[in-house]
Amino acid sequence: MNIFIFGGTGDLASRKLLPALYRHFKAHRLSAHAKIVSIGSRAINSSEYQILVRENLEHHLNESEFDESVCSEFLKLISFLKIDFNKADTFKLLADNALDGSRNIYYLAVSPIFYKIIVDNLNLQKLIFSSSSIIVEKPIGRDHSSSVEINHALAQHFNEHQIFRIDHYLGKEAVQNLLALRFGNIIFEKIWSNIAIDHIQITVSETLGLENRGSYYDETGAIKDMLQNHLLQILCLVAMEPPTNINSESIRDEKLKVLRSLRPLEGNKNDQQVVVGQYKDGAINAQPKKAYVEEDGVNPNSMTETFVALKLWIDNWRWSGVPFFLRTGKRMSEKKSEIVVQFKSVPHNIFDSKIMQKDNQLIIRLQPEESIKLKIMIKKPSASGFYLQELPLDLLFEDYYKEDHLDAYERLLMDIIENKPSLFMRRDEVEEAWVYIDQLITSIHSSDINISKYNAGSWGPSSADLLIAGHEAKWNNEED
Ligand code: BG6
Repeated sequence: MNIFIFGGTGDLASRKLLPALYRHFKAHRLSAHAKIVSIGSRAINSSEYQILVRENLEHHLNESEFDESVCSEFLKLISFLKIDFNKADTFKLLADNALDGSRNIYYLAVSPIFYKIIVDNLNLQKLIFSSSSIIVEKPIGRDHSSSVEINHALAQHFNEHQIFRIDHYLGKEAVQNLLALRFGNIIFEKIWSNIAIDHIQITVSETLGLENRGSYYDETGAIKDMLQNHLLQILCLVAMEPPTNINSESIRDEKLKVLRSLRPLEGNKNDQQVVVGQYKDGAINAQPKKAYVEEDGVNPNSMTETFVALKLWIDNWRWSGVPFFLRTGKRMSEKKSEIVVQFKSVPHNIFDSKIMQKDNQLIIRLQPEESIKLKIMIKKPSASGFYLQELPLDLLFEDYYKEDHLDAYERLLMDIIENKPSLFMRRDEVEEAWVYIDQLITSIHSSDINISKYNAGSWGPSSADLLIAGHEAKWNNEED
């Protein structure tokens, strides 16, 4: 098996891909006969590249993971080739490694603007076989039409089952656990609809800023960087109908139906449905943070959003009348990804009106720690009187599973190696998500929604609180 990493000196290869391959190698999941060929434009040879990889591994792996002798063996699998993506001739250098009969995996860890030329040149040099796979990263395109162009370029040379479109959130253990929770338990599924649910919140908040990705991010923004892919994928898993089986096509079919049921925003009501924000300076854990517009690579007059919150409706029987509130942002108060399912009130309250009756809430925390919490009402023990109290049924996964989870990229790379497509996005899903996002962006521009500033270290603009307050609800910011 040969793994070709285009963009071998880039951030993704150094931070995620090579550490993930190292861990697989250390755990004997990656064959000692595999070849890893990194490709880039730098004028360095394989030995010089191996020195860089070694430094990177030492930096990105924790002490217990890094092992000197394993690392030396791992480096023997790795070589480096300088290739100019625009020059078909230079792709001939790959021919010695990319032989027919062995599995060739082409990982495009480069900007999407290079996808077409790379696959065209691989094809020109006859380096694509029926056993080859191509891996591309989100965001696939900048909008619907560019995603169609990219998908079309890939489809010229690869069949759909050879194309792995990565959304690393789908590789997270906790995200997959949503399937187990929803479809492995009868108790949730029966109430998982407008019959019992008042609204659902999905939050993916980050404390991180731009991490040397200023120019990419300033062109992209939170809507395309996070909402178009990670949040919509989580939404699909939360809202989809039960698939007929666990195979990739059944799940993707159901996710696609959700994307097709998203209600386009309504003309002049947009300002009550979407909030976009950008962080000002502030502090996180008492560390001062500068404003977005002062970050390296960002235009000082930038109007790019680093936060988005929206109220979204899914037009189908199950979800009719149930709003979904989604939000994501950088430099927020806390790093967390969570889904909050807010249930409706009991239909008839039998208790004294002075007794606080709270509505049930299911909180599924995906990261940093993985947990499921169901808030229920119980009777507080007392000598006299009848008092209710809300308490959680609390399942913290680390209490049961001591061993570390595979990191999302480790899992996805393993699935690519084993040719399992379930955790990757199908062409129609990606394009359908863009249809919604294009329409969202157009309506934001046409209704002059202003970008609201928020302090770094806060929970985003106050207008995002008003957005959900309109439904007589509030974001689950701090645990009460
Ligand atoms: C990436 C985005 O897809 O996801 C980044 O491009 C973001 O901007 C990252 O920081 C968040 O991923 P995670 O796994 O840290 O939640």
